[in-house]
Amino acid sequence: MIARETLARDLERARQRTWALTDFDDAELHRQYSPLMSPLVWDLAHIGQQEELWLLRDGDPNRPGMLPANIEGLYDAFVHSRASRADLPLLSPAQSRAYCTSVRAAALDVLDTLPHRDDDAEVAFRFGLVISHENQHDETILQALNLRSGAPILAHRMTLPEGRPGLTGSSVLVPGGPFVLGVDAVTEPLSLDNERPAHVVDVPAFRIGRVPVTNAEWRQFIDDGGYTQQRWWSPRGWEHRVQTELSAPEFWNPDGTRTRFGHVEEIPGDEPVQHVSFFEAEAYATWAGARLPSEVEWEKAAAWDPQAGARRRYPWGSAEPTPQRANLGGQALRPAPVGSYPDGASAYGAEQMLGDVWEWTTSPLRPWPGFTPMIYQRYSEPFFDGDYKVLRGGSWAVGADTLRPSFRNWDHPIRRQIFSGVRLAWDA
Ligand code: AVJ
Ligand code: FE
Repeated sequence: MIARETLARDLERARQRTWALTDFDDAELHRQYSPLMSPLVWDLAHIGQQEELWLLRDGDPNRPGMLPANIEGLYDAFVHSRASRADLPLLSPAQSRAYCTSVRAAALDVLDTLPHRDDDAEVAFRFGLVISHENQHDETILQALNLRSGAPILAHRMTLPEGRPGLTGSSVLVPGGPFVLGVDAVTEPLSLDNERPAHVVDVPAFRIGRVPVTNAEWRQFIDDGGYTQQRWWSPRGWEHRVQTELSAPEFWNPDGTRTRFGHVEEIPGDEPVQHVSFFEAEAYATWAGARLPSEVEWEKAAAWDPQAGARRRYPWGSAEPTPQRANLGGQALRPAPVGSYPDGASAYGAEQMLGDVWEWTTSPLRPWPGFTPMIYQRYSEPFFDGDYKVLRGGSWAVGADTLRPSFRNWDHPIRRQIFSGVRLAWDA
């Protein structure tokens, strides 16, 4: 069982982050920065609505809630596309904040009863789900703010480590053999449905990048005609590249600078590249004489300890994430230079597996064998048959409380406003 105090702490941490990321005037919160993203005021009330549904109404939308049904319906992500949300008669920022605060007060009352209930493992799981959901929307809000035009309105609140030279382009060997893929309710009580169940998978030997691909490496790809030569691209990828005239990662400017949260700056060569699509990642890998890892390979490289013959809770072991081990939590507003986290290395020696950038894999999102949907049935299941590629590892924007090596993220292969990067792999 997860301690009640841990759940209360993680709820509060997520909420402080949500407040800080929406501490803007009403006009700002109603702005839609891009058709790909919601206005921030939508995310705000949606966070409260999901918390109310899973913690106070047992997941049953027909149980009376705090909002009138027609208003609540505005926050159903399956009914209203992101592009259409700015035109909805949404709650005002003040109403949204008051709603979130009322829901939270009632949720904390439920949490108080937790050790006295016979279903407390399931209730604790729902708290974990709600914490994860709020943290994931905080990352979505960061994606939106990064797309905002104009002078910066967010300041970074964390200094990153220095990085170590000499790692770019190097790889580690992951010998062939079985390992345990995925987790279960005993080892990871707050893991979500798509990470379960744990099961043994045999993986042929492979090599994987010791660190993610950097901006300097990506510059070489560009300079070598990476975006103009079809031979590096898949047929679909090339078609997309031509149609959208891609010639560099998103937010890279023609004068060699980049724009990051409104700051125009030099592109640091030793920082993991971000804001590339799956199609670009795939073309880069082909150009580099490599390939992308499958998500199964990725998870083995991150989580398996071959000496112990067991999974580690984190790549480095069982200790919780700290700023010495991984760049998480969203305060840095950027990835850390490669080599910043020797203490975060996996058993095989791969570094920066958690934090910094989400890493594209070749895997389409599919259920593990024996998948059972959780109470939030539409979290994973509707996306299993879609055109989604799995991303692993988690970016600098992910809440540290919610990330595990088994965590699976997904998006369309063309998306790049997300904090996505690349780690290469090779057959061994
Ligand atoms: C798992 C990040 C793809 O943002 O679409 C948020 C998370 N699900 N609310 C998304 C999610 C419902 C989801 N991703
Ligand atoms: Fe959501």
